[in-house]
Amino acid sequence: MCVSRRSFLKFSVKIILFLGMDFLLPKGILPKAEAAKISENGEHLEEDYLLNLPVKHLRNIITKDARYEAMVMFQSDKPLKNPLLEVGRISEKNLKWFNVAEEKLTLGGATVYIYFSKVFGLTENAIYRYRVVSDISASEWGKIVTPKSEKTEIIAVTDSQCDGNYSDWYYTFNSATERHKDANLIINLGDIVDNGEALWHFEAWYKDIENTLKNKIFAPVIGNHECYNLKWKYFLPAGFLAEFKTPKNNGKDFEGYYYSFDYGEAHFIALNNNFLEIDDNKKGLLEEEMKWLYDDVKNSDKSWKIILMHKDILAYNEYNAYTNDYGGLNDIAHIFMPAFDELNIDLVLTGHMHVYRNRGHIYNFLPSDFGPYYLLCGLAGNARYDVPKDEVFDKVMAEGKETDNYLHLTVTKDELNIICYLPNGKILDKFSLNK
Ligand SMILES: [Fe+2]
Ligand SMILES: [Fe+2]
Repeated sequence: MCVSRRSFLKFSVKIILFLGMDFLLPKGILPKAEAAKISENGEHLEEDYLLNLPVKHLRNIITKDARYEAMVMFQSDKPLKNPLLEVGRISEKNLKWFNVAEEKLTLGGATVYIYFSKVFGLTENAIYRYRVVSDISASEWGKIVTPKSEKTEIIAVTDSQCDGNYSDWYYTFNSATERHKDANLIINLGDIVDNGEALWHFEAWYKDIENTLKNKIFAPVIGNHECYNLKWKYFLPAGFLAEFKTPKNNGKDFEGYYYSFDYGEAHFIALNNNFLEIDDNKKGLLEEEMKWLYDDVKNSDKSWKIILMHKDILAYNEYNAYTNDYGGLNDIAHIFMPAFDELNIDLVLTGHMHVYRNRGHIYNFLPSDFGPYYLLCGLAGNARYDVPKDEVFDKVMAEGKETDNYLHLTVTKDELNIICYLPNGKILDKFSLNK
C-alpha cells in the first residue's frame, strides 16, 4: 500500500488529537480552513477535518428567494473559533467559503451562541451541501435544495408547542417529512415553542427533528407563545428573533417580526398579529405592518398570494373588544380581512386555536364563492383544546377528538392543491384552488 506523506501527516494528526496531545502539533501542519487552497474562481477543494465540531441545530431559514440564496444557521454552547460555512453543489468537489456572524443570546438565565451565514449565488432546482468548519474541525453536512418554479411541495404545521415533552411534535414532523420527501419547505404558523424565553424549549423542539430539518428550508411565524417570558408575562420575542433570521422587511421598528418570500409560483406573506402581546412593550406594529403589506403584495407578480399568520379570524367564545362580542369574526378579522379582499389574497393560513377548520372563501365578512380562502390549520404539538363549531363559517372539521395534523401543499402556476393529513397518513380534508 502506498501512503503519501500528506496522508501520513493527516493520520498522525488524528492520532495525536485522539490522545488529547494536540500541544505536540507544530503550527502549519493542521489542515485548517484557511489553508484550503482557493482557486481563481473563489472555489477550493475539500479538505479533511476532524468531524467533531460542537455545533448543533443546523438549519436553513427561508430567504426572499430561495432559488438563489439561503440563510444557514446553527449554534453552540461555547463560542466557536472563526467559523466558516463551506458550500458546494452536491455532485461537485469544488466548494466555496461564506462568512459567519455570531450572536450571543442570553435568555432566562441560559446562554447560547447563535451563528448565521447568508449564502448567495445559488441556482434554482439544484442540490447543495453545506457544513461548518472551524480550525481543524467540521460539522456534519447538511443540504440546501433550491426550488424550481414549475412545481413545489410544502408542508405547513402550526402550534408545535408542547408542555415539555415534544414527542408529539417529533412524530408529526417526522411523519410528514418521511411521507413527502419532495416537500422541501416547512412552514410553522407560530407557537413553535410553549415559552419564548425558555431556551430549553427551543432545545427540546429541535432535538428529534434536526437530522431532517438541516436538509429543509424552514419558514417560521411568530405566535403569542413566542411573546411570553418565563413568568408568563408578555415580552418581545427575543428567542424567536435570535433563533430564526427571517428575510428583512426594511421596516422602521419591527425587523424580524414579519416578512415575505417567494417560493415557486407563490408569494408568501408572514404577518405578525400578536398585537395584544406586543403592543404593551412596543407600539406601532400594526401601522408599520399594514403599510408594508399593501406595498409588498402589490409588488409581487407571483401567481398565488398566501398569508401566513398565527391568530385566527374567528372568536369561538373569546371576548373581542372591537366587536364587543364572543362569537363570529374577531378583532383580527376586522383588522385584516378588508385588506385581504382588496389585495386579492388567495389563501389565508392561521393557527392558535389548535383545531382544524376549513371555511372556504370569505368575502366582505361573509361566506362566498370567491375571495380569500381561509384555513385554520390545527396543531402539531400536544396542547389540545375543545373548540365549538362556528355554524356560519366552519365547513370541515375533525370528527371527534382532535389529533395532530399537518398540511401538504402542491403549488403550480395554475393550481394550489392542499391535503390535510393526520400523522398516521389518514386524510382529514383536501381541496384545490385553480387560476
Ligand atoms: Fe398555540
Ligand atoms: Fe397561539
